[in-house]
Amino acid sequence: MCGIVGYIGDRKAHEVIINGLKRLEYRGYDSAGIALYNGSLEIKKGKGKVAKLQSLIDSSDEAKIGIGHTRWATHGEPNDINSHPHTSSSEKLALVHNGIIENYNSLKKVLESKGHVFYSQTDTEVLAKLIEDVYSKNTDDFKRAVQIALAQVEGTYGVAIIHADYPDQLIVARKGSPLLLGIGKGEMLIASDASAVAEYTDQVVYLDDGEIAVIKKDEYQVHNLNDDSLTKEVHELALSLEEIEKGGYEFFMHKEIFEQPKAISDCLRGRLDVESGTITLGGIKDVLGKIADAKRLVIAACGTSWHSGIVGEYLFESLAKVSVEVEYASELRYKESLIGEGDVMIVISQSGETADTLAALRQAKENGALVIGVVNVVGSSIARETDAGVYIHAGPEIGVASTKAFTGQVTVLTLMAIKLAQEKGTISKEKASKLIKELSEIPGKVQKILDKSSDLDEVSNLFSYAPNFLYLGRSFGFPVALEGALKLKEISYIHAEGYPAAEMKHGPIALIDEMMPVVVIAGTNHTNDKMVSNIEEVKARKGRIISIVTEGNEEVENLSEFSFSVPETEDELSPLLTVIPLQILSYNIAVNRGCDVDQPRNLAKSVTVE
Ligand code: AGP
Ligand code: GLU
Repeated sequence: MCGIVGYIGDRKAHEVIINGLKRLEYRGYDSAGIALYNGSLEIKKGKGKVAKLQSLIDSSDEAKIGIGHTRWATHGEPNDINSHPHTSSSEKLALVHNGIIENYNSLKKVLESKGHVFYSQTDTEVLAKLIEDVYSKNTDDFKRAVQIALAQVEGTYGVAIIHADYPDQLIVARKGSPLLLGIGKGEMLIASDASAVAEYTDQVVYLDDGEIAVIKKDEYQVHNLNDDSLTKEVHELALSLEEIEKGGYEFFMHKEIFEQPKAISDCLRGRLDVESGTITLGGIKDVLGKIADAKRLVIAACGTSWHSGIVGEYLFESLAKVSVEVEYASELRYKESLIGEGDVMIVISQSGETADTLAALRQAKENGALVIGVVNVVGSSIARETDAGVYIHAGPEIGVASTKAFTGQVTVLTLMAIKLAQEKGTISKEKASKLIKELSEIPGKVQKILDKSSDLDEVSNLFSYAPNFLYLGRSFGFPVALEGALKLKEISYIHAEGYPAAEMKHGPIALIDEMMPVVVIAGTNHTNDKMVSNIEEVKARKGRIISIVTEGNEEVENLSEFSFSVPETEDELSPLLTVIPLQILSYNIAVNRGCDVDQPRNLAKSVTVE
C-alpha cells in the first residue's frame, strides 16, 4: 500500500533510504522503519513520521545495505511492534512488506507448532518466519528458500529482504504490489514507486507478478518462483526532481491545482489539430474500429477516477451515441461478470496500481474483452497490462487528493469520445471542430480561474467550520458535484455529499436548514431552468447557496449567497472548469482547519490492497 525503499552500494544506506521514504510519504502511512546491516543487523522502527525514524538513526552509521518501509496498517494497529521491518526467529533476516498475506493465520499456526514465537499482530511477520523455516529445513540456498516460501503464500506482496549471512545482497519479490529496481553505477536501489529512486538513477526495471530479484551492488538477476531465469527490459525513467518537489508551495495539492493549465496542455500536446478539426490518439489507433463496434462499453475505476468515468459516460453517450456503464472496480470484480468477447472496458487510474481496478482489468481480459487504459503513471501495472491506452501526461501527482489527474482523465476521455464519434459518424463536422477548438482553449480558461482564486477566500473562511456540505449538479455538473464533495471529505474531514440536483427531493432535502451550505454547479446548459428551481427549493428551507456559474448566469448569481463564475465553454467541457473552484474551496477549508492537506488521515495515495 505504501512504501518500500532499499539500497546497496557505497553510500550511507540510511541516507538514501530515509530520503526515499520521504519521497514516498505522500502515499499515506502510519509507521516507518529501517533495517541496516553493518556487521550486524540493526533495526529502528515505530509509529509516526519518517522524520521521527530519522531521529532514531545514528547519522554516522556506515552501513552500505539496508531496507526501509512506511506502513499503512492492514493487520494490527499502527504501533511500534507492528511496524516493519519484521525479523525471523534467529533475527538474522529482516523483511518489509506491502500488501496482505491472506492465509497468514493458517501459516502462523503451523509455524507456532514448530516453535516460532510471534511478537506482532501483522500478517507480515509470518513471512519472515516462514522464509527462515524453509531455509533452515528444506534448502541451504537462500533465494530458493524465499521462492518456496512465497509459493505457499496467498494474497499480495511486495517484499524486500536482507539476511545477515548474505550481507552483499538484497532480495525483492512481487505479487500484486508494485516494485522496481533502480540500476545505478556500482549501486542499486529498490522501491515501490519510482519517485524514491529518481534522484539516483533514471534506469529502472519493473518487476512483474511472480518475480523475484537478487540484487548486488553491480548486478541483479531476476527469476520466477520456479527459478527460471528471466531477462528484463531496462526502462528510462522520465521523472524530473522538480516534478516531485513542492517548488515553493506549502502543499503538493496546491501546486498540483495550479499546475493544471500546463498539465492539460501537456495532455493535449500533439493530439489536437484545431485547423483540420482532427484528433490523434496513437495509443488506441489500432483498436479504434473495435471500440466503435463494441457490444458494450464499460468503464471501471475507483474514487476520483470513477467520477471522471461518469463524465466519460456522459461524453460517450452524447457524442458517440454509445451506451456506457460505469462501475466501481471493487464491485465489478465480485459481480456475476457479463463482460466478455466483443465488449470494451476502459479502466481509469491515476496511479495505475489500484488493486481493485487491476483485478477488474484482469477479469475482463480473461473473459475476452478489449481493455483500454486511461492512466497517469507511465510503466505502472495497469498501463502495462491493458491492451491499449492513452496516458494523461499530468506528471507526478503527489497530493493524496487527486486534482490534476482528474482534469487529465476528463481531457483524455473527451478526446476519446470525440475521436470515437468521428469514427462512428455520430458527430457533425461543425460540432467536432467547435469542441476541438474549445478544448485547445481550456488551459487558458483554467488559468483565468486560478488567477482569481482569492475570490474564494471569503466563502472558504465563512464555511470552514460547517459540519456538513451538500453538492448538487445536473448533467455534466453531477460528476463534478460528486468530486467536489469527495475533495472536501478527504482533506478537511467535513461530511459532504454529492447528488444529482433533482435527487435532493428524494431524501437529502431533509438535511437542509440554515446551517447547511449547498454548493450548486450551475452552467448555462439545458438544465439551467431546472437548476434554478432546485436552488429555490433549497432557499425556501434556508439553505445557504454557494454557486459555481458560467459567466453571465445572473439569474443563479442573484439567487446565491455566494457565487463564483467560470468562463463560458461547451457544455461537454464544463467539468474541466467547474471542478477547479471546488478543488480550491476544499483546499482553503482544509488549510483553515489546520489539516495535513497532502497526507490526510487514514488515506493512502495508491490503494494497492483490496
Ligand atoms: C482521490 O482524491 C482519491 N484519493 C482516491 O479516490 C483515488 O482517486 C482512488 O483511490 C483511485 O486511485 P487511482 O486513480 O490511482 O486508481
Ligand atoms: N499487511 C501489512 C501490515 O499490516 C503491510 C501493510 C502495508 O502495505 O503497509 O503490516
